[in-house]
Amino acid sequence: MLKVWIVGSNGQLGTAINDVIDPLEMEVFNTDKEELDITKTDEVLSFGEINRPDVIINCSGVTDVDLCEREPELAYRVNALGTRNLSIVARKVGAKMVQLSTDDVFDGLSKTPYSEFDDTNPKTVYGRSKRAGENYVKEFTHKHFIVRSNWVYGRGNNFVTRVLAAAEEGKVLSVASDQFGSPTSAKDLARIILYLIQTNEYGTYHATCKGVCNRYEFALEILRLAGKNAELKTVPTNESDLSSARPAYAVLDNFILRIIDVYEMPDWKDSLKEYMNEVV
Ligand SMILES: NC(=O)c1ccc[n+]([C@@H]2O[C@H](COP(=O)([O-])OP(=O)(O)OC[C@H]3O[C@@H](n4cnc5c(N)ncnc54)[C@H](OP(=O)(O)O)[C@@H]3O)[C@@H](O)[C@H]2O)c1
Repeated sequence: MLKVWIVGSNGQLGTAINDVIDPLEMEVFNTDKEELDITKTDEVLSFGEINRPDVIINCSGVTDVDLCEREPELAYRVNALGTRNLSIVARKVGAKMVQLSTDDVFDGLSKTPYSEFDDTNPKTVYGRSKRAGENYVKEFTHKHFIVRSNWVYGRGNNFVTRVLAAAEEGKVLSVASDQFGSPTSAKDLARIILYLIQTNEYGTYHATCKGVCNRYEFALEILRLAGKNAELKTVPTNESDLSSARPAYAVLDNFILRIIDVYEMPDWKDSLKEYMNEVV
């Protein structure tokens, strides 16, 4: 039975992987900051050596983009050095390493979707610290999957829950119409990860749901599915209530998944519908 260590197991994606994984097929070790802080090198090494996972899935991270700007040392300590620590363990015990990453490694200036072969050029501390994490994974491990996604929502605080909470409070919502992406449910991201770890098709993957929208269109669809009425105002990003400064064009092309043609991500609206039925 495959032994899988889920790091950051209380986060949106860590929770979704636990929801999707079949405990009869895989043995799971869950850790989050409370049990094991990934910045503590010796503790990470000893946990890995004692438990000897076959796969390490790093879902942990400092994911608050504004917090990363305010506290760059924290961002690099966790997103870069913490990832380095896990990569060293993966190499030592021969485990496959899955590293979650983001569209924020790109500058968002493109007019067309970014493929895995496009050059990175992060503009934020979050993006730079995540790229540093990717680089450590490449430096220390061979058997790795770097999985970049964007606009992920699962159980926890995210764009969907913020839109619904604001609608509940009867607020007029100012939503950016100049930020584009592909909303991706944590559950669908979990499914592709669980598929990949059973292969030896290592490398970097873009994995987002199909289709593109702006934040305003995303908010409209959330409200429509929830059957709620709220007044939405489209504004530029810097006037928006619900999102930080992010790459304007955060669209990832799932180029490799498409050309190897073995796994298809669902459409973002179908994925959102499944989430709303289950979680909201
Ligand atoms: N959400 C998105 O839109 C998105 C998009 C693309 C990529 N990603 C990437 O996908 C991954 C999962 O995202 P997510 O949305 O599931 O994130 P999340 O909900 O913020 O979960 C991250 C988890 O990591 C934990 N953590 C923070 N510092 C840690 C440390 N030093 N040691 C161990 N655990 C630590 C957090 O604990 P605390 O909450 O207690 O700090 C939290 O439970 C992240 O790597 C993120 O960069 C996310």
